[in-house]
Amino acid sequence: MMRFARLPNPGRSRRIVFQFEGEPIEAQEGDTVATALLAASAGATRTTAVSGSARGAYCMMGVCFECLVEVDGIPNRQGCLVAVTEGMSVRRQAGPAVVLEDAP
Ligand code: FES
Repeated sequence: MMRFARLPNPGRSRRIVFQFEGEPIEAQEGDTVATALLAASAGATRTTAVSGSARGAYCMMGVCFECLVEVDGIPNRQGCLVAVTEGMSVRRQAGPAVVLEDAP
């Protein structure tokens, strides 16, 4: 597994704790979910629909959809575009993207 290290950034030093798969993960204010998970070496963000293989953030700019996660019970969130907030609950997205019905 590739490991990432944070660069010093004194302007973003406030610590935030959120949950990933029920475990606490420490992030910095301004992190996206994908950034925080990479910095914590938390592993895959989702598994594929066909083989179930593990996937993780790749483009970090909303193009590849490899970072799909469930955030506070809402599936299909792109981890690279969602800012971490205190107490947020994030889970891996398993299998295909979830199709949501339109609200009446
Ligand atoms: S990492 Fe590519 S869309 Fe999020």
